[in-house]
Amino acid sequence: MKETTQTIIVTGGAGYIGSHTIIELLTTTDFNVVSIDNFSNSTPASYDRIKKIANRSFESLNFDLCNEAELNGQLSNIKNIAGIIHFAAYKSVPESMTNPLLYYHNNLTSLNNLLKFALKQNIKNFIFSSSCSVYGNADKLPVTEETELKKAESPYGHTKQIGEDIIRFVCRSELNTVILRYFNPVGAHTSGQIGEFPLNRPNNLVPIITQAAVGKNSLTVFGDKFDTRDGSCIRDYIHVSDIANAHVKALNYLIDKKNKSNTPVFNLGTGDGVSVLEAIKSFEKVSGKKLNYTIGPPREGDVVAVYADNTLARNELSWQPKFGLDDMMASAWKWQQTLEAGN
Ligand code: WQD
Repeated sequence: MKETTQTIIVTGGAGYIGSHTIIELLTTTDFNVVSIDNFSNSTPASYDRIKKIANRSFESLNFDLCNEAELNGQLSNIKNIAGIIHFAAYKSVPESMTNPLLYYHNNLTSLNNLLKFALKQNIKNFIFSSSCSVYGNADKLPVTEETELKKAESPYGHTKQIGEDIIRFVCRSELNTVILRYFNPVGAHTSGQIGEFPLNRPNNLVPIITQAAVGKNSLTVFGDKFDTRDGSCIRDYIHVSDIANAHVKALNYLIDKKNKSNTPVFNLGTGDGVSVLEAIKSFEKVSGKKLNYTIGPPREGDVVAVYADNTLARNELSWQPKFGLDDMMASAWKWQQTLEAGN
């Protein structure tokens, strides 16, 4: 008799990384998917795009994870939950600097409510969306998962540090969790039919670059006097579909009980540090567009440089980033052109 198909809950499933991960789940696994999103930083239109690309449907629920009563009411009757992938969180460094309590409330209350639910429902597998910002200004680069975490430079990064600690203390035995530290997710699905869709003016570099290329935004480089090879900040940009692929690998890693501890941590980066000016040059090369930008003062909350040693994820998860910087920029540009064409 066919085994009852199991369900994966994806919080923040209408968002940038969540939507790409649902596509990966629907196209490479048999899991049913239930997405939870309150559309605070996304739109339900993402769901139609996902279904069209994946040629498969899924369920979705619209509520705020900070509302514990609603969370329990909406999720308690879902059966056969094999795991939870928790993306839903605010993620802008500058916004967290101007509104720290919004970040501490939203990112931590939603996590606490969800963990309580997972423990009560005896859900065994939980994937937490963490970030390279937990490293702060690390003493040594590239950072490995063992690199000492410095003081967080922003409330956003601090909520991810606290979130990881909550998980470590909560998931001693009952819950198997993988903590994934994303570096800088950029780019868009190769179909050009879904990508980053900032509702307001974006804060992240790449959507600002693609909007500047179509005259919808101005581009300022936040500082060019840092102690780096060209004076601009260095990051490890990684294609959002490589991040999505890593989530399916991490899920299978837990379901197949390959984890050697309750809360393994993995860096999801390419291992290549790229400066802001180099990212701009890559975009200009692949798009054929010349970007006019100004040099402005450093942005509060930024770390100077961070990029990954991704050996552990390669070995433990058998994960391999497939896209290079030019591919990332080309896919971001293709998506911006889709948006410009009104598709
Ligand atoms: C990148 C660099 C800016 C805008 C990210 C996100 C999120 C998280 C990791 C996972 C910085 C510079 C930016 C602009 C610029 N990952 N910049 N002009 O700050 O690394 O934050 O942390 O959750 O991806 O929160 O990403 O894209 O904002 O900035 O010069 O208009 O580009 O100073 O050096 P950041 P970002």
